[in-house]
Amino acid sequence: MKKVAIAGATGAVGRQMLECIRERNLPVEVKLLASARSKGKVIDGLVVEELTPDSFQGVDYVLGACENDVTKRWMPWAQEAGCVVVDNSSAFRLDDNVPLVVPEINADDIDHHNGIIANPNCSTIIALVGCDALKKEFGLKRMIVTTMQAVSGAGVKGIADLENQVKGEDVPFQAFPYQIAYNLIPQIGDFDEFGISKEEWKMQNEGRKIWHEPELLVNCTCVRVPVMRSHSESITLECETEVDVARAREVLKQAAGVQLKDDPQNRVYPMPLDTTDQDDVFVGRIRKDLTDPEGKTLQVFVCGDQIRKGAATNAVQILEKLLEKAE
Ligand SMILES: NC(=O)c1ccc[n+]([C@@H]2O[C@H](COP(=O)([O-])OP(=O)(O)OC[C@H]3O[C@@H](n4cnc5c(N)ncnc54)[C@H](OP(=O)(O)O)[C@@H]3O)[C@@H](O)[C@H]2O)c1
Repeated sequence: MKKVAIAGATGAVGRQMLECIRERNLPVEVKLLASARSKGKVIDGLVVEELTPDSFQGVDYVLGACENDVTKRWMPWAQEAGCVVVDNSSAFRLDDNVPLVVPEINADDIDHHNGIIANPNCSTIIALVGCDALKKEFGLKRMIVTTMQAVSGAGVKGIADLENQVKGEDVPFQAFPYQIAYNLIPQIGDFDEFGISKEEWKMQNEGRKIWHEPELLVNCTCVRVPVMRSHSESITLECETEVDVARAREVLKQAAGVQLKDDPQNRVYPMPLDTTDQDDVFVGRIRKDLTDPEGKTLQVFVCGDQIRKGAATNAVQILEKLLEKAE
């Protein structure tokens, strides 16, 4: 039986990875790794071990769920032990020899790995899964996106901040620079000289790589909102051909990993509470942009659980493909 280690098993994404592996009945033995702080903790019947240089001996696959600096430290140990790593951090996503994969879109890229496969940024996965069928139907030149990102996107510290603030507890903020309860913060990541944050660049840079579209243009604004889980995104798609709402609905109904939620007259549209703890991306509020005289612009609203499809589920889907290929 293949052995899988989850590095960062005590975090928001790592815990969800174990749940996804169990839900899908993957025939693997799992080892949980985290920092020395977590040594001996028990999660779902498994004891957490401290991640050390020897942790990856005898391990076939690693699911990485640590921040960039921590991942960069243990990656050589995993490589030396001959593991194939599916990594959630952004440390290796844009490296030429590292495939960046959303299985519904570019599963074939997995074949070109050299020991590391990267999982894309959570908002990017959700936007691309929600818009891939529309891109195929109408062609896509430019996306204008505003993300509304849940606090759990910042891991267990983000969850603690919102929980503490809603309870009115007077404790220092852990993940965010300002109060997030009853507020929103239009900054995720550091800004560059153009006033654009690292998180905002990811949708264009990673979108180009996943879709194999080096000219794709994405204008993105990322906002942290006081939602516990599931990211929402308002997306404008500037297409190559005239768009048609009825056709958009038809292609979305057939799209892998998508649920169409688009009956606005009856108040049916995607909402983060409804996408929480399930794997599909919901798409709705589909309408033509009436300010475009050429009729080539479509507006949509998408929601998806960023800990599941935006991270753990996507990684476990990649692991499933690797296991199939290894049979
Ligand atoms: N949260 C999301 O929605 C989301 C979505 C997509 C991608 N990601 C990415 O996924 C990664 C994990 O995010 P997260 O939200 O799950 O973070 P998190 O909740 O803060 O968890 C971080 C994990 O890293 C472990 N860790 C920290 N220092 C370590 C060390 N020195 N050695 C070994 N393990 C160590 C922690 O273990 P301890 O508990 O022992 O400290 C914990 O298990 C990040 O790269 C993040 O950017 C997150």
